Amino acid sequence: MNIPTKKLISGFEMPVFGLGTWQMGGREERNPDNNDASDIEAIKRAIEAGITHIDTAEMYAAGHAEALVGEAIKEFDRSNLFLTSKVLDGNQTYNGVLSAFDRSMKRLDTNYLDLYLIHAPDDSVHISETIRAMNDLVDQKVVKHIGVSNFSVKQFEQAQHFSNHKLVVNQLHYNLEIREIEKNGAITYYQKHDVMITAWRPLQKSIILSDGAEILHEVGKKYNKTPAQVAINWLISQQNVVTMSTMRDRKHLDENIGAVGWKLLPEDIEYLREKFPNQKSKSDVYPLSDKLW
Ligand SMILES: NC(=O)c1ccc[n+]([C@@H]2O[C@H](COP(=O)([O-])OP(=O)(O)OC[C@H]3O[C@@H](n4cnc5c(N)ncnc54)[C@H](OP(=O)(O)O)[C@@H]3O)[C@@H](O)[C@H]2O)c1
Repeated sequence: MNIPTKKLISGFEMPVFGLGTWQMGGREERNPDNNDASDIEAIKRAIEAGITHIDTAEMYAAGHAEALVGEAIKEFDRSNLFLTSKVLDGNQTYNGVLSAFDRSMKRLDTNYLDLYLIHAPDDSVHISETIRAMNDLVDQKVVKHIGVSNFSVKQFEQAQHFSNHKLVVNQLHYNLEIREIEKNGAITYYQKHDVMITAWRPLQKSIILSDGAEILHEVGKKYNKTPAQVAINWLISQQNVVTMSTMRDRKHLDENIGAVGWKLLPEDIEYLREKFPNQKSKSDVYPLSDKLW
């Protein structure tokens, strides 16, 4: 299946649904007991099923997730893929970004990234320095687009202020349960300012499938869709929102791909927004600043 894309007014375009690689190869550190062959197979399977966006980061398995992606994509046409990686906080000086980028390119075995993100704000380096390095990578044509992740609106505005290139994405924690970016108005800001939100953890690692089983089944029945498909579609049916899930299990991949190519009706999007149980007004991983403006 061809995964549809979403386009900003600026022209930036990316797939509405992709594959995440967090926990492939390990967590913060490489897991020597990890079944790497199985993770590589999961990435290949996703590409064969039509996934083109693969999201990774130098932080995942201390770089090993990038190496697994590099291995998996070898036999595919690079130009058909949309690769995102991220520079870790701690590597955000000018030279730190450029060195981190080189290491990522080697592990991914590619000569460009479609999207390079600042993984999270780093208070120890002035954002203008980090952005100067990100801009240089675009100018050198080794990165097509740049953006950020886990930035508050205020931090996003500061970063954009110092950037000659548009920051096209903020990758943020958002799903039916984690509503921080709705509660603080960030989602409206990005919609208004033509920025894509890549919602990470769309299923809250499958927790929302049990917490919201009843309502997801109820809505899913109307569309003949499963709870996971409804939860993912709820995200991508919204303006300027795309997402990606980790799917090492073939069944999850097949199921989640069925979340694209159709759209929940606006009244069902609002019904889920209002009635979904266990809503939280803060991310449990990267809570954003309350002082947004
Ligand atoms: N920027 C950031 O700070 C940040 C933070 C976190 C994550 N991310 C990115 O976002 C991606 C996705 O987030 P995530 O992995 O944390 O959360 P997620 O996609 O909500 O959850 C993934 C987990 O749910 C399972 N799953 C997937 N589809 C399922 C289905 N249909 N039914 C039941 N279980 C299902 C997966 O199992 P299997 O793997 O066994 O299939 C995996 O254990 C990550 O891989 C990463 O690339 C970014």
